[in-house]
Amino acid sequence: MIKYLGSKRRLVPALAVLAEASGAQTALDLFCGTTRVSQAFKSRGIHTTAVDSARCAHVLARCYVATDPDADLGFRAALAAAVDELNAVPGRAGYVTQTFCVEARYFRPENGARIDAVRDAVEARYAGTPLWPVLLTSLLEAADRVDSTTGLQMAYLKQWAPRAARPLTLRVPDLVAGPGRALRGDARTLAGSPDLGPVDLAYLDPPYNQHRYDSNYHVWETLVAWDAPDHYGVACKRAELRDPTTRSAFNGRRTMPVALGEVVSRLEAEVVVLSYNNESWLSYAELHELCSARGHVEVLAFDSARYVGARIGIHDPSGRKVGRVSHLRNTEYVVLAGPAARVRAMARAVESAGLGARVDRPVPVPAA
Ligand SMILES: C[S@@+](CC[C@H](N)C(=O)[O-])C[C@H]1O[C@@H](n2cnc3c(N)ncnc32)[C@H](O)[C@@H]1O
Repeated sequence: MIKYLGSKRRLVPALAVLAEASGAQTALDLFCGTTRVSQAFKSRGIHTTAVDSARCAHVLARCYVATDPDADLGFRAALAAAVDELNAVPGRAGYVTQTFCVEARYFRPENGARIDAVRDAVEARYAGTPLWPVLLTSLLEAADRVDSTTGLQMAYLKQWAPRAARPLTLRVPDLVAGPGRALRGDARTLAGSPDLGPVDLAYLDPPYNQHRYDSNYHVWETLVAWDAPDHYGVACKRAELRDPTTRSAFNGRRTMPVALGEVVSRLEAEVVVLSYNNESWLSYAELHELCSARGHVEVLAFDSARYVGARIGIHDPSGRKVGRVSHLRNTEYVVLAGPAARVRAMARAVESAGLGARVDRPVPVPAA
């Protein structure tokens, strides 16, 4: 699984308990990111639709949610053979090497050349086949294991990360058996549209702040698009990211509350489960009110570590520490909304499993 800001790794056990306690047979993961949550639903036999606006998240969803490795006899063997074959492809420098290893330093040049050659081979040999999203995912994960960043592609480390010296090696992704669906699009457009259709449970994990995912993970966007884009700045970001129309409404302080309100009200779902945190733009009361239009509301709270930048501290361009870390932990809220009996049973199930606690008021942000 790739490094991804806001990934719900720690919340997955609680979200799985919630899904099971809800009795859902169909689910929607509307901001699916790494697809961890979709995978947890799918592996419990829930038919899951994974949606995201980012190219990279969509490829992960096609791999882990929409691919059923057991639907076709021979798929797993063909996949293993393809991964072996790609691991034998010799490096050949191209766009990745020039842009992300020479102009920037996300990967060592020898790994950049391998990424270039493997990505070309995936396109030439597997475009249009069911193996394409799985092999591309395998390449993204292999590149992530040898990158030289703190987990965001806004910048790269001054000194090579030790992992960057390891040779790029693809692995067979750990696929989840069963059917599922992947859609790429804007949550605002898709919510309530016939493309999504009704579901028993909708899980929403929108961005919490102004940091854009397509920008923070622009290298993955380019590896998927494979379009050798013009780029700008030290980070060599895709030129299109400068265009304000490519910005998600969920990344704007003014636009986010409206966008979230529209999505929550339009979704065709019995139960809505919304992740949010106590340092974000909407207050606890606003969050509660926004969800109460869908029925009874329960709020669960989970203690969590803040993003990596908060832990490293604030440095000037020469690497000198110029600020101090204010606090290291915050609270993740999971808001449940829907029929009272069902929502209460879901909240109780999480509490009985010792995975989270119900709260009926905001959890304060620690003083700086
Ligand atoms: C907090 S992350 C989700 C993390 C995910 N739950 C996980 O565990 O990996 C938010 C996601 O929302 C996506 N996103 C941002 N704006 C969007 C929009 N307007 N429509 C759909 N997805 C969007 C981002 O690409 C990102 O993957």
